[in-house]
Amino acid sequence: MCGIVAYVGKQEALPIIIKGLKRLEYRGYDSAGVALLNENGLSIYKKKGKVSQLEDFLAQNQDIKSTIGIGHTRWATHGEPNDANAHPHYSSSENFAMIHNGIIENYEVLKTDLINKGYVFHSETDSEVFINFIEDVYKNNDCSIEEAVRLALHKVVGAYAIVIMHKEEPDTLIAARKGSPLVIGVGEDEYFLASDATPIIEYTNQVVYLDDYEIAVIRDNKLQIKTIENVETNPYINQLEMELEAIEKGGYEHFMLKEINEQPRSIADCMRGRLDAKNGRLVLGGLRDYMNKFQNADRIIIMACGTSWHAGLVAEYLFEEFARIPVEVEYASEFRYRNPVVSEKDFVIAISQSGETADTLAAIELAKSKGATIFGVCNVVGSSIPRATHAGSYTHAGPEIGVASTKAFTAQISVLTMMALMLGYQRGTLTESRYIQLLHELEAIPAKVEKALLMNDKVEKIAAQYKDARNFLYLGRGYNFPVALEGALKLKEISYIHAEGYPAAEMKHGPIALIDEEMPVVFIATKDSSYEKIVSNIQEVKARKGKVIAVVTEGDTQVKNMADHVIEIPETHEAFVPLLAVVPLQQLSYHIAVMRGCNVDQPRNLAKSVTVE
Ligand code: G6P
Repeated sequence: MCGIVAYVGKQEALPIIIKGLKRLEYRGYDSAGVALLNENGLSIYKKKGKVSQLEDFLAQNQDIKSTIGIGHTRWATHGEPNDANAHPHYSSSENFAMIHNGIIENYEVLKTDLINKGYVFHSETDSEVFINFIEDVYKNNDCSIEEAVRLALHKVVGAYAIVIMHKEEPDTLIAARKGSPLVIGVGEDEYFLASDATPIIEYTNQVVYLDDYEIAVIRDNKLQIKTIENVETNPYINQLEMELEAIEKGGYEHFMLKEINEQPRSIADCMRGRLDAKNGRLVLGGLRDYMNKFQNADRIIIMACGTSWHAGLVAEYLFEEFARIPVEVEYASEFRYRNPVVSEKDFVIAISQSGETADTLAAIELAKSKGATIFGVCNVVGSSIPRATHAGSYTHAGPEIGVASTKAFTAQISVLTMMALMLGYQRGTLTESRYIQLLHELEAIPAKVEKALLMNDKVEKIAAQYKDARNFLYLGRGYNFPVALEGALKLKEISYIHAEGYPAAEMKHGPIALIDEEMPVVFIATKDSSYEKIVSNIQEVKARKGKVIAVVTEGDTQVKNMADHVIEIPETHEAFVPLLAVVPLQQLSYHIAVMRGCNVDQPRNLAKSVTVE
């Protein structure tokens, strides 16, 4: 969480930083701030609230012309969201200014020490301690700033991506990372630093991804990278493939709506070059060197958080059905703090949209240390998880900006489905004819998602009827159970209505007590192997006067006769239904949130990239 941006070069720094911060607001929006350096000195401007509030505040200031600066948008960890806790932070002398994304775990010890030495603090943050600690090392060692940073980093425990400026060095930025992302854009006589590439893309497509334990020094228009052991490394320049239009709203009112509607294309992009049903071809390049391990694994362990964990649950059904390998799906946060039984015979799949989730990264390191093979399924190219895994497949959904995940979820399931089909075919648990049939069915999914999206107007009307409900229940069975969890999560995240997802049959073990005439119950009741069972569950809800909203297969009549509302989706193989069934649930939560006046793209308290545990 938290987004950082910095600039040094020949242009005005402030507009570049402000625009960049707006692009990074998905990482947190509790407060925002900038530090700028010019002939009048090193000045910090910061405000509680969104970047637009900072902009209003800056409009009252004249002294903001500068060609070097740093900026920050915050998701609060230490200290409430207010002006004082906002970044950047000065050191005590006000010679240094710093932006920080991450958490310093030993900050209390460092702080006590600094207080004893006479340092005074103006915020409750770990970050202010961090910059004062660097200043203290600088004062005591009579060394360069970068050397002080390097020495200080040896003593700091925790995660960080930082950028530092010093009053006496008007053309220098010092950056470092461990555990939090940092990308450096290399322009002509200018450098851009940011938590991801979105603030950089319109200026240059040449980027360097800083690695953990590396320090970047940009001075006099030159970039130098060293490890914290003081070994110089050669910056490797990557070419960004992202398009600017992919990170803009393109006429939609919200990113979330844009991203919901992009799904036919994002799923097709995910399958492009990988799936060719006519020629019976399915290739995931990332799996090539690991197919043998995958095929012979004793067990598949899936690790993820949030929506990605739901995609993992769908994958459990897919892998067990098509490839007959046992699967465990783990919350990364639980896995990392147990003493899990893992061996070299396990194949671990880590799923993450951002590729930065701290718990997932830590779980990967743990499984790796026990000898397992780790395969990443991530969306953000060049992020930390793809670099920590042995191999992986990108989901190619394009940048997802709305905090509530939509197109990344369907792209994750698309990759996992392709993996399961490849595995089943290689292992011989899928016959050739069934395999080919499934490839054709999968290839037809983007067009079917397009059709599912057409239910939007109907879904909007349903939303209008239930927007004031206080609770929602989402029920599904088999492949649709994870879809029920995802539907409930979407509603909670953006509309703040309490919602629970449950396996439909489990309803009678508890949630049924909640049902009365006020309770909307969303059923995913498509024509599949458990259709008759879910029809009985619908009857149980109707018998208690609950309101039933059912997602059904096109042409269904049985559920239509019982439910208060039905939303039809095209027919497909039951294993692929999640890719279609989730679409109206995304639309339902979107419309309810809009009608309730909620901030759809930036819901309260949430952040998209969770780099703290
Ligand atoms: C946050 C986001 C969710 C996301 C989860 C896991 O909670 O708001 O949308 O599903 O993190 O993130 P990841 O990037 O690892 O998929």
